[in-house]
Amino acid sequence: MSTFQAPKGVAEYVPPESAAWLAVRDGLIAPARLAGYGYLELPVFEDTALFSRGVGESTDVVTKEMYTFSDRGDRSLTLRPEGTAGVVRAVLEHNLHRGQLPVKVWYAGPFFRAERPQAGRYRQFSQVGIEAVGSDDPAVDAEVVSIAYDGYRGLGLTGFTLELNSLGDAQCRPAYREKLQAFLRDLDLDEDTRRRVEINPLRVLDDKRDKVREQVVDAPLVADHLCDDCRRHYDDVRGFLADLGVQWREAPRLVRGLDYYTRTTFEFVHEGFGAQSGIGGGGRYDGLSETIGGPPLPGIGFGLGVDRTLLALQAEDVTPPVAGGVQVYAVPVGAAARRELVKLVGRLRHGGIATDMAYGERGLKGAMKAADRSGAQLAVVVGDRDLADGVAQLKDLTTGDQESVALAELAAAVEKRLS
Ligand code: HAM
Repeated sequence: MSTFQAPKGVAEYVPPESAAWLAVRDGLIAPARLAGYGYLELPVFEDTALFSRGVGESTDVVTKEMYTFSDRGDRSLTLRPEGTAGVVRAVLEHNLHRGQLPVKVWYAGPFFRAERPQAGRYRQFSQVGIEAVGSDDPAVDAEVVSIAYDGYRGLGLTGFTLELNSLGDAQCRPAYREKLQAFLRDLDLDEDTRRRVEINPLRVLDDKRDKVREQVVDAPLVADHLCDDCRRHYDDVRGFLADLGVQWREAPRLVRGLDYYTRTTFEFVHEGFGAQSGIGGGGRYDGLSETIGGPPLPGIGFGLGVDRTLLALQAEDVTPPVAGGVQVYAVPVGAAARRELVKLVGRLRHGGIATDMAYGERGLKGAMKAADRSGAQLAVVVGDRDLADGVAQLKDLTTGDQESVALAELAAAVEKRLS
């Protein structure tokens, strides 16, 4: 241990366990690549106002959880707590919305929220996300939801539930909001919650405390107050999802923690790893572009938590398909053998075979132990006597079989054994 430790609450992964984390990240994004989403590399920090306006002044994310700092030019910047506002900013900045619509992009990387750390809740965590910007076609909603669904299923995850809701739009939400507020004002609520009733009443429906939950059972639900356009849109989304074989549960109280959502909203929940059950979520944000100063540009997307998905897989005892371990391990005994094997290792790697070798003077026994630990299928062992004879010992580490192979034919022999 050094003087230093990683900051509190960050998600950190070291080999070999980190291979599973990578497999989760890549697996979650694979279905998006098959659906024509292009990669967007975004900055990790943005103008603070992008988030406070885009995500919403009344959200916990903005009021309590942002890592905000001034740069040397006294600009207020914030480490991104989420990806959607940055994506819409980039789409507008690069005029992508003037091209083919919807603009379809994916992104992956670290996000930052100053939350109280616990299992599955970190201050630096990782998301993969997609956004489809510039269309309100309900078939796009179904595409986005089903891509997330396929991502989880593709990794072998089964114990999750997709919760689905529609939050209405600028036409029907205001009237519903007032109705809900009138209902909530009559309840016995603490000071903080009363304030929330005035600022963000929908969030009260999502309160996890028993005392609040009991009181809101009969609250009016947005699903019963959708305008005709929103109702039709939601019916269409569900029709497409059913056609795609996606299973979901209607969640009329589902309200997400970010203010930009309209119409279709969804969350993937998994009960396997403690209090933090949301492994991913998303929805439509038809007014976000205008909120940040752009033209009307409806959009929908999701963010999936890589760290929580890994925890969910572990809870189900499912190992994600980890690719790319070492296939061959070279063990030189003596300086001359080392020279020979450094060359061979280079050749094998250039040929696309993942190869490692024993470095340092650790003797045959220690080096063979390292070979076993590496997970490689084959070991190539060369000592002075082998060199004099122009051969190497090729050992199959799974069966223990060993044979002598001429150095000149070694690369070919390794390839043959691995194929
Ligand atoms: P979000 O629900 O805030 O949505 O985050 C998405 C996912 O990120 C969560 O479901 C969870 O798995 C993971 N996550 C969030 N906070 C933490 C944390 N502190 N520790 C570990 N994992 C966490 C968004 O961020 C939206 N931008 C999603 C979206 C995209 N909506 C439309 N497009």
